[in-house]
Amino acid sequence: MRRVWVTGGAGFIGSHLVRWLVRHYPHWAIHTLDALTYAGHLANLEDLQGAPNHHFHQVNIADRAALEALWESVPPDWIFHLAAESHVDRSILSPLDFVHTNIVGTAVLLELARHRWTDKTDKLFYHVSTDEVYGSLGEEGYFTEETPYAPRSPYAASKAAADHLVRAYGHTYGLPYIISNCGNNYGPYQFPEKLIPLTIMNLIERQPIPVYGKGENMRDWIYVEDHVRAIIRLAEQAPRGRTYLISAQNVRRNREVVELLCDLYDALRGTKDSRRLIRFVQDRPGHDYRYALQPSSTLLDLGWQPEVDFHEGLRQTLEWYQTHQSWLNAVRTSAYHTYYQKQYAHRLSSS
Ligand code: NAD
Ligand code: TYD
Repeated sequence: MRRVWVTGGAGFIGSHLVRWLVRHYPHWAIHTLDALTYAGHLANLEDLQGAPNHHFHQVNIADRAALEALWESVPPDWIFHLAAESHVDRSILSPLDFVHTNIVGTAVLLELARHRWTDKTDKLFYHVSTDEVYGSLGEEGYFTEETPYAPRSPYAASKAAADHLVRAYGHTYGLPYIISNCGNNYGPYQFPEKLIPLTIMNLIERQPIPVYGKGENMRDWIYVEDHVRAIIRLAEQAPRGRTYLISAQNVRRNREVVELLCDLYDALRGTKDSRRLIRFVQDRPGHDYRYALQPSSTLLDLGWQPEVDFHEGLRQTLEWYQTHQSWLNAVRTSAYHTYYQKQYAHRLSSS
């Protein structure tokens, strides 16, 4: 029996990873650790209720005493670390929340692992990170494992700091770790603050769709379950103490993504005018222009490849949101509406 912790397991990617682990590894004990911030919801794990190999713990990863107590009762063999403040726009509004969770929280987890994993046999600290640590590209080129770090938003800087800490613990204390850096994920259960779910929500509700600047910025998109399968493949088979890049090599301009969603929505609903909802609004400060990743050869050699085509993934995601409007309503608290106003009211009124 292997005992696994998944931090941030009630968030978007975390909930897909937990679901995968619970279903595919019935003999492992899967423990979700999550503070249930605005971005974490038990509803994301609802279908796992009653699963005998899944356990949920509401805990803040920066709370060392609480983590120590949990380690006493259910010490992990593997840790998948996904808990984070994850949204760039919020990091521009409140950077210290990102420093606290992404840097201090990661350091607390690492300290526990350092002191408690005296026997490191079959232990793994798997840190889930982002391509944003590498900065921004021009029209050409790709990030590789050798690209120097150059984070440019508070979110990216906090994730870069966490990556460096994980590597430092590997180098100094022999911590068995893997870091993987992935591009932009999309799929069911993504909180409606990120581009794709926000666009879908506004399509369903026939509200204006805010696109920053001229919509020319580019992101490297991947369906969330393709990311999860890459994480599992690396955790099961890849050499420790290294960093891997995960990408479906699917780089798109924001404008193209939003237009595709509008057209898919029209095709599904028989409407014709969704593109009219698009508004080009005031740009994000310091907006990174382009992300593109060269997937690690180790990952490809291990036989991983993306399975979900972008159009098909977007269609499935759109359909999921349409059939889960109660989820969309449940996760949008008054704090969400306050955030939305702060982020978009002035932008939309002057677009
Ligand atoms: P998310 O915001 O949907 O989920 C984050 C989860 O972490 C939430 O459940 C939240 O409650 C929890 N959390 C936040 N602070 C916490 C704390 N202090 N203690 C315990 N739990 C806490 O994020 P996501 O999109 O699922 O991203 C998961 C991880 O993957 C993050 O580390 C992120 O940096 C990384 N990542 C995300 C993307 C992407 O496109 N979404 C791409 C690459 C990497
Ligand atoms: P986002 O989903 O926030 O992810 P990230 O900033 O981590 O890449 O944004 C994806 C792209 O979409 C990014 O270039 C910013 C842009 N964007 C908009 O144009 N409008 C929006 O309302 C949001 C949230 C993002």
